[in-house]
Amino acid sequence: MKYALVTGGSRGIGRAVCLQLADAGYPVLINYASNREAAEETQRQVEARGGKAELLPFNVASPEEVDKAIDDWSESHPDSYIAVLVNNAGIRRDAMMVFMQTEQWNEVINTNLNGFFYVTRRLLKYMLTKRFGRIINIVSLSGLKGLPGQTNYSATKAAVIGATKALAQEAGARKVTVNAVAPGFIATDMTKDMDENTLKTMIPIGRFGTPEEVASLVGFLASEQAAYITGEVISINGGLYT
Ligand code: NAI
Repeated sequence: MKYALVTGGSRGIGRAVCLQLADAGYPVLINYASNREAAEETQRQVEARGGKAELLPFNVASPEEVDKAIDDWSESHPDSYIAVLVNNAGIRRDAMMVFMQTEQWNEVINTNLNGFFYVTRRLLKYMLTKRFGRIINIVSLSGLKGLPGQTNYSATKAAVIGATKALAQEAGARKVTVNAVAPGFIATDMTKDMDENTLKTMIPIGRFGTPEEVASLVGFLASEQAAYITGEVISINGGLYT
C-alpha cells in the first residue's frame, strides 16, 4: 500500500495537507516533534472523514531519530511504502542579521534545510525502486524574494528550492516528481504574531491565505494528474509576488 508522510503534520498547513491527502485516498503518516495532542487531533479529523492515519513522531533535525522512525515503520509495514512525502516541518527565528545569534541561525538551518535532507534521502530509495513517488517541499515567498529579518529562514527556503530542482533531475527517470510550493502569508500559528491588517494592504487578493488553499495545491501535485510537473516552484501568495 502507498502511504503519504507529512512532516510537521500536527497543525497549520501540515494538518490541512494530511486531511487533503487522506481525502485523496492515501493512508497518512502524521509526523510531529513534540505536540502529541495536536497530532492526535489531526488523526481524529482524518478518521472523522473516513480516512486512515498513523502517528510517526520524530525530530526532522535529528538524522538518528529520522532513520529509526522510518526503519521501525518499514519493518512493521513490509508490504507498504511511503510514496508521497510532504516536507512541511519548519520554524522561524527572526532577527536582523546584525543581531542574529548563532543558535538562531543553526536552529533554522537544522530544521528547515537539514531536516529536508534527512527525511528525503531516507525515503527516496523506496520511491526510486518502486518507480513512483511525489516529493513536495513547502518553501516560502521568503526564499524567492528574501524578507528582512529572515536571512536564516530565507537562506533555508532558497536552498530547498535549489535542491528541489536538482533532485527533480536525478529522480525524473524513475517517475518520482519533486516540486516546491511557496506560500506567501498564510493564517497559522507561524504568522499569528504578524499584523494581518497592515500586511493585507500589500496583498492584491487582500487577505492572508488559508492552510486549506495551500493543501489543495499540494494535493494536486501529489496526484496522478501532476505526473508531468517536476522541478517547479509554485507560488501561492494572493498575488503578493509573482
Ligand atoms: P506551524 O508553526 O503552524 O507548523 C509548523 C509545523 O512544523 C508544526 O507542526 C511543528 O510542530 C512542526 N515542526 C517544527 N519543527 C519540527 C521538527 N524539528 N521536527 C518535526 N516537526 C517540526 O507553521 P505553518 O505555517 O503551518 O508552516 C508549515 C510550513 O509552511 C513551514 O515549512 C513554513 O516555513 C511554511 N510556510 C508558512 C507560511 C505562513 O505564512 N504560515 C508562509 C510560507 C511558508
